Amino acid sequence: MIIEGSVALVTGANRGLGRHLAEQLRDRGATVYAAARNPAAVTFAGVTPIALDVTDLESIARAAKITGDVTLLVNNAGSGTGASLLSGPLSDIRTEMETHYFGSLNVIRAFAPQLARGGESAILNVLSVLSWMSVPALGAYSAAKSAAWSMTNGLRQELAAQGTAVTALHVGLMDTDMTRDIDAPKSDPAEVARFALDGIAAGRSELLADSLSERVIAGLSGGVGALYPAFA
Ligand SMILES: NC(=O)c1ccc[n+]([C@@H]2O[C@H](COP(=O)([O-])OP(=O)(O)OC[C@H]3O[C@@H](n4cnc5c(N)ncnc54)[C@H](OP(=O)(O)O)[C@@H]3O)[C@@H](O)[C@H]2O)c1
Repeated sequence: MIIEGSVALVTGANRGLGRHLAEQLRDRGATVYAAARNPAAVTFAGVTPIALDVTDLESIARAAKITGDVTLLVNNAGSGTGASLLSGPLSDIRTEMETHYFGSLNVIRAFAPQLARGGESAILNVLSVLSWMSVPALGAYSAAKSAAWSMTNGLRQELAAQGTAVTALHVGLMDTDMTRDIDAPKSDPAEVARFALDGIAAGRSELLADSLSERVIAGLSGGVGALYPAFA
């Protein structure tokens, strides 16, 4: 897809990867709706802040009504409760599903009609290496990203009929607020944003942002019996 001249909407655009995506889309010549739960938290210039909580159907419908002309939808908003599947609060486990799975799905369903209106259109879903592998300390998050990966693959096929391309971005660890308590090497979110936008421009279906993502998806071919000991 040609990004210059597109009309992009980025969810969770006020900080982290979403902010980099919104700023770089603007710099590449897109018109950008920077969507955030609190639009006042969008503090950078050259974009249109818009209120959007991906877990709130009315908020999604309002945003879709205000825009009407989006050609590139970026589902970036994400929660990181750190809930264990066994002992975490069920409310946190539901938050992960409501945000990553139902949130992204509901946003896509609401924006699909406007994506169908113009010529070229595309969706980027920000996923994770944890779409393919569950980490106990992030069990609820992993399950939600896994569900979002399946949803992404299903919608890629359904949306092909209206000419909307669907790209999945898989990331290992990125240096954002979400991972502030994790002491390990992390990617620069600005670099990940650049890589993602280059991938959309090239029309790619799946993007692996780092070597961890590449190694884990390659490891899947050996089955989970081999995968989990290899990454223990
Ligand atoms: N950081 C990593 O290592 C990593 C790795 C793989 C994938 N990812 C994914 O990358 C994406 C961006 O995460 P990040 O690392 O940039 O995290 P972040 O800095 O914590 O930012 C998360 C963003 O999502 C927004 N958000 C959360 N719940 C929302 C909701 N219900 N409605 C709308 N916005 C909501 C937050 O808004 P508020 O400011 O209002 O809270 C914030 O803008 C997420 O999908 C995450 O799962 C991150």
